[in-house]
Amino acid sequence: MRLAVILSLTLSLSCAAAAADAAYAPDFDGRESAQAAIRAVLEDAACAGGLVPDVPGAAAADQPVWVSMEKSAVGSLDGALFKTAPVVENKKIAIYAFREAELGDLADGMHRAFRRGPGFFAHDTLAAALADLEAAPPVPARAYTLDQAARVGALLPLVKEAPLVSAISALSAFKNRGSRYATGVDASKWLQKEWAKLAEGRSDISVAPFKHAAFPQESVVLTMLGAVEPEKVVVIGGHLDSVAGSGDTPAPGADDNASGAAVIQELARALVEGGYRPAKTIKFIAFAAEEAGLRGSADIAAAFKKAGMNVEGMLNLDMVNYKGSDLDIYFVSDFTSAGQNAFLGRLIDAYLGYTWGALKCGYACSDHASWTKNGYPASYSFESSFEQHNPYIHKPEDTLANSGGRAEHALKFARLGVAYAVELAK
Ligand code: BES
Ligand code: ZN
Repeated sequence: MRLAVILSLTLSLSCAAAAADAAYAPDFDGRESAQAAIRAVLEDAACAGGLVPDVPGAAAADQPVWVSMEKSAVGSLDGALFKTAPVVENKKIAIYAFREAELGDLADGMHRAFRRGPGFFAHDTLAAALADLEAAPPVPARAYTLDQAARVGALLPLVKEAPLVSAISALSAFKNRGSRYATGVDASKWLQKEWAKLAEGRSDISVAPFKHAAFPQESVVLTMLGAVEPEKVVVIGGHLDSVAGSGDTPAPGADDNASGAAVIQELARALVEGGYRPAKTIKFIAFAAEEAGLRGSADIAAAFKKAGMNVEGMLNLDMVNYKGSDLDIYFVSDFTSAGQNAFLGRLIDAYLGYTWGALKCGYACSDHASWTKNGYPASYSFESSFEQHNPYIHKPEDTLANSGGRAEHALKFARLGVAYAVELAK
């Protein structure tokens, strides 16, 4: 609505003025307003006869989608992926206009170019993309304590490998869990049904889909309402979608990321079996559309922030069942909270005895980044060093068999999740 007004204003300005502004780079560090940047972008676009502004309810495939990316990553990509110049940029980040239907090819092309992608954020609106040019809000530091040994000790034995194997098998049996595929929608519905079983007989547990405007796959949210401070929230999440090229290529995504979604389900199941009731609210979330640019988690984290939700911590589980390196668990050090990462290390030392280390993605590689961006303390626990991660991801070969046919490695992350939930939601 507001964009439409701005567009009509800018259309009445002369295109010569817009052309003079062509090299425009907003200086948000110098406190330039996002509104001024939106105005300049739309002015340029209108003069070039190009971009369509955000149109709520437009046909999905044709809907504009705004992609923001680190310029250092884009610099080395060939022109085939980026047929047009960025619509706006600052020193570090560039924003491009795509169509919904082109996003899959972009993700695919980036995976091909890099073996791993440089990472990008896809946004429904230009205003949301422009917010990426502004510095992320600082994440406040907090104190962490460990004093729940008895409770953690009682719950840990309830976490089992067999249900993890079943859940990974069931999820990877959907031919492709892409966020725009019918089978991707089915996989979300399947998870909703499984998670609803955990809520039976517990009035403090509810399961609901989180619907997204831009794609049909729903995120899935299981809420365990806090008995003492329900307004304080702990989030444990990981993506449910998968990717492997485009068209009807099978994308079993057994490791990336049926494994993380299965861990979330098993961890919730074990807590319910143990009759555990948290003092603070815990939200278990299977995110839609991570592979399309962190879109499910972006919607949810932004909605939580808008609603003034007090998220005390977020733990991301994405790729947890391929043991590629010597240590058991690795924590991603960038786009995460150093304080919470250290707390997770202490939890492992105190309760689990696993070996652990750190790795760097170098870009916003998964859903933790959406929470960090909204000012919440987030961590990302990962299966291996970056160099030794599962070589089959984003291919039809990302099967359970190619992760060893078992869920021994994933089990460690489910156990870590129990310790994290109990110590943070107390
Ligand atoms: N699970 C991966 C992230 C990952 C891969 C982390 C390898 C560490 C090692 C995630 O699902 C993914 O593929 N992310 C994309 C970026 C995203 C913003 C589309 C990627 O890494 O290309
Ligand atoms: Zn993943």
